[in-house]
Amino acid sequence: MAILSIRLYPDKILRKKCQVVTKITAEERKLIKDMIETMYSAEGVGLSAPQVGVSKRIFVANPSRERGKEWVIINPRLLKKTGQEILSEGCLSLPGISAEVKRYKKLLLKYEDLSGEERVIPLEGLLARIVQHETDHLDGILFIDRLGIFKRFKLLQKFKNKR
Ligand code: NI
Repeated sequence: MAILSIRLYPDKILRKKCQVVTKITAEERKLIKDMIETMYSAEGVGLSAPQVGVSKRIFVANPSRERGKEWVIINPRLLKKTGQEILSEGCLSLPGISAEVKRYKKLLLKYEDLSGEERVIPLEGLLARIVQHETDHLDGILFIDRLGIFKRFKLLQKFKNKR
């Protein structure tokens, strides 16, 4: 296992639409193990493949931060999104800043697990929020894009001043 380096804004890979995973091979399995280790090492609750330089539709999540309870999500699709909730959010690719982001409260997640099995599960709470944030990453979208232009500008100034 290895700790991977996390790509930071404005790295171009964070803006690319990621490729659908057609086959889960040893390469993907190793990547996923390393992503889980990297997520723990960075004390995050979610991490997407493009954040470690791989443009594939994969992310890992762990709202409980408890080892062994990681979610591995491949080719996610968000269905039946309902309700709205505004909560503070951050991103490992934009360390040091956070903002209130409006997200759906509940959704139905369709995805493939590590064994390639297709699953559909209803989600709410923190996991639903992480899933929306990480699925955005797979489409080249960052949480700052979900803010108004003035708020985004102020936040990016803050981020740049910290670098
Ligand atoms: Ni993020």
